[in-house]
Amino acid sequence: MATRRAGQRTLVGRIDPDVLAFTVGRDPVTDLELVEADCLGSAAHATMLSRLPVRPRILGARDCRRVILELRRLMDLAGRGGFRITDEDQDVHLAVERMLTARLGDVGRRIHTGRSRNDQVAVDLRLYAREQLFGLTGETLDLAEVLLAQARRHRLVPMVGRTHLQPAMPSSVGVWASAHAESLLDDMYLLKAALDYNDACPLGSAAGYGVPLPIDRRLTARLLGFREPIHNVLYASNARGKCESVILSAATQVMLSLSRLSEDLILYSMPEFGYFRLPPAYCTGSSIMPQKYNPDVLELVRAKARRVAALTAGVTAIVNGLPGGYNRDLQETKESFVDGLKTTRLSVRILARLCRAVAVDPRALRAGFSAGVFATDRALELVREGMPFRDAYQHVRGHLEELQAADPDRALRAKTHDGAPMGLDFRAYARRVQAGRRWVKAEQRRCHAALSRLLGTRYPRPVAGKERGA
Ligand code: ARG
Repeated sequence: MATRRAGQRTLVGRIDPDVLAFTVGRDPVTDLELVEADCLGSAAHATMLSRLPVRPRILGARDCRRVILELRRLMDLAGRGGFRITDEDQDVHLAVERMLTARLGDVGRRIHTGRSRNDQVAVDLRLYAREQLFGLTGETLDLAEVLLAQARRHRLVPMVGRTHLQPAMPSSVGVWASAHAESLLDDMYLLKAALDYNDACPLGSAAGYGVPLPIDRRLTARLLGFREPIHNVLYASNARGKCESVILSAATQVMLSLSRLSEDLILYSMPEFGYFRLPPAYCTGSSIMPQKYNPDVLELVRAKARRVAALTAGVTAIVNGLPGGYNRDLQETKESFVDGLKTTRLSVRILARLCRAVAVDPRALRAGFSAGVFATDRALELVREGMPFRDAYQHVRGHLEELQAADPDRALRAKTHDGAPMGLDFRAYARRVQAGRRWVKAEQRRCHAALSRLLGTRYPRPVAGKERGA
């Protein structure tokens, strides 16, 4: 009872255990995603503190080196899955401070000089988002490439083009597959914009109002590989949540592309169509119906697309109407943010593997052509003979029964303009993929070089089990 009344001891005072549990929420788990980012932010902050022109020094150069070595150790510990955040820590920021203090004593107790958890979490999320966006960009390009390879391979295979899902006009597997690829290539604009939006450093804004110390925010931004610091200290705080909402919106657009692709694949691999055969490894059976062969992966991607959209809406809703300055509400956006990004990357990756193994059945695709599919082509033939289009349209409409099941291959060959079955510019597609790859590689190299310099060792850190000495 006594301890209950006194509350649980934390680094920032005693807190009633129930209140602590409620306010901490799922942070001890969610924040495990941010350990690496938090250590990077602390390394930049410590470096900056050690260069501050104040006497006595807040942190000496030697102290700074010890802090960074310790932070590297913590990053490796996290990489091995050994980092723990307790309820008393509340979050990753105080957990790291506790561990630094346990190993370095006074030096650890000085690390929080001139910063707040508010700017720490904001910078952590941006560092985390940056890595996730690098990964997602590369994976999105991978999927686009897989689809383009399928489009190329089957560019001459006829496929009924549909509107309202009804047979409409002759088209090709090439058009179908590269349409999905082009959607992803357009999503690259949003991923790029999201990375740009994210590329400013909130560190040093502290609680949202700066500190009465001559801290160097340009230095910390540079050390972490950001373009610049977010200028206004209050805006640096207000941007939290909104930045996540922007990034998740870009992810939602990628998921929208995936959901349409998934739905098409589910539909056209149904036995009634049989255009595509899904790789058996990506389907599951039924526990009761022996013949079943279900497109579970695609259905789950479809559902996950809706879930990512919902997570985005959730983050946006939390930010909507918040007053300026830090509010604890923002903590509640973290889980959705992490979940949304992870879910998007998982979905893109699995679809790339599935699409690579999708088989195309040209016979079933050709069999799907009914005479009506050629109606518009027939009208345009009459136009070529001199008839005004509306007359040709009326004529064909009045004589639909006369339409012959024409040759789909011939129909494809007649469509040669830009973007049509015979006018697909695969070179231009390849150039877009290459430009995207070059760009993300350069960005990644720039950021990782900055972080490697900061840590005095290679970043990203070697994977667990393979680390070098020190
Ligand atoms: N866990 C907190 C969050 O995600 C960290 C910031 C806490 N700041 C505070 N003023 N209580 O928002």
